[in-house]
Amino acid sequence: MSTPIHVADIAQYEGQEVTIRGWVYNRTDKGKLTFLLVRDGSGFAQCVAFKGDLDEATFDAIRRIPQESSVVVSGTVRADKRAPGLPGGYEIGISGFEVVQAAALDYPMALKEHGVDFALDNRHLWIRMPSQWAVLRIRATIMRAIQDFLDGQGFLRVDTPILTPAAAEGTTTLFETPYFDEGFAYLSQSGQLYNEANIFAFGKVYCFGPTFRAEKSKTRRHLTEFWMVEPEIAFCDLDQLMDLEEEFVTFIVQRVLETNRRELEYLGRDLSKLEAIKPPFPRISYDEAVQMIKEIQAETDDPEKKALLNIEWGQDFGSPHETELTKRFDKPVMVYGYPTAAKAFYMEPWPGRPEVCKSVDMLAPEGYGEIIGGSERMSDHDLLLQRIHEHGLPEEAFKWYLDLRKYGSVPHSGFGLGVERTVAWICGIEHIRETIPYPRTIKRVYP
Ligand code: 4AD
Ligand code: MG
Repeated sequence: MSTPIHVADIAQYEGQEVTIRGWVYNRTDKGKLTFLLVRDGSGFAQCVAFKGDLDEATFDAIRRIPQESSVVVSGTVRADKRAPGLPGGYEIGISGFEVVQAAALDYPMALKEHGVDFALDNRHLWIRMPSQWAVLRIRATIMRAIQDFLDGQGFLRVDTPILTPAAAEGTTTLFETPYFDEGFAYLSQSGQLYNEANIFAFGKVYCFGPTFRAEKSKTRRHLTEFWMVEPEIAFCDLDQLMDLEEEFVTFIVQRVLETNRRELEYLGRDLSKLEAIKPPFPRISYDEAVQMIKEIQAETDDPEKKALLNIEWGQDFGSPHETELTKRFDKPVMVYGYPTAAKAFYMEPWPGRPEVCKSVDMLAPEGYGEIIGGSERMSDHDLLLQRIHEHGLPEEAFKWYLDLRKYGSVPHSGFGLGVERTVAWICGIEHIRETIPYPRTIKRVYP
């Protein structure tokens, strides 16, 4: 048998006889030629069968091969600029062909337009298509870049539990599960509170895992299960946190540009927009952001949009606000100093302005909106206890968290970056449901 290769490396084998193992993505017949687009997981390659080169049985088998059949193809690699595929530009002249399994003829994801619900019901098959394949490969690069950046900066990965005794981000979005004799446990909304314990042992830490929100919101930005990376740093204030955030996001975007240019191009992403993502990112206060939204609202003639942009100081931003705001910037914008009442219980108050807290959200450009939520944490024990009461949280469940403010409390900060929203922005795709292999939303836990 000739050299087994991965399609991703096809350019290295020009003129050589190779073998690929994969699945028939598409077949086109033209006179004495049959073109197979074969995918092997690493890429898509055009394989050409010429009737004159093959015995009749082999050519016949190729001509009748159903979509998604698993096959072993051998032949010589030749360069051809016109050859489609990923990477493309090379094709294989078939000399040998073996069918591992001829697929059933009723493949649901036949190559035509499908409705979104149908595609989602067939997510297990949809991921075979090049658009989904490209997005999920970019996702993998982002996951890797996140770890490389933080490990390189001296952060220690310390895993936090998924089953937790209480809310971290507000009680309205908790998933509850019966828990033996203990009553109830909740799926983690954030590893942050444990990260805060961990920095007192390790200085700089991060957790990285699935996160759960029983979100009632049915928007293109919300999942009930999503992945979040949460760095937490001792002796770090809000300004230092913003420096870290912009370096972090720049690193991720530049890594994707280095690694997945082909996938981005396949998705039709405007690369110049990503190339522009370099520090410094604009930083504006919540007060300024509200002012800006009011200006945008005044400028618009569309009555519907005008109504959606209503905002009063003190309210948190909704998707329409973020979308319009970010259209004003060509880089992610960091909005800091949100109203205390609109944010979680653990945020440090702004010195001299207790109605404002030392929080920062990073909003991605092109209308994508919040990808990061972060803050400087409250370091005072008594104020923290007061907040826990004000938010109606069970003091008992937070006893350990309060301990952190008794034994060596320091100023500290951290943030959480949502992987799926970051993938959506970097890939330039409309809806978050395509950024995770098997999306979970209020209406979907299948497949
Ligand atoms: O702003 P959030 O709720 O912040 C926290 O959970 C903090 N405890 C993080 C921290 O400081 N350690 O969530 C952080 C990010 C959001 O900016 C968003 O990117 C993502 O998590 N996110 C969601 N992504 C998809 N679906 C949802 N329902 C999300 N909720 C939050
Ligand atoms: Mg947030």
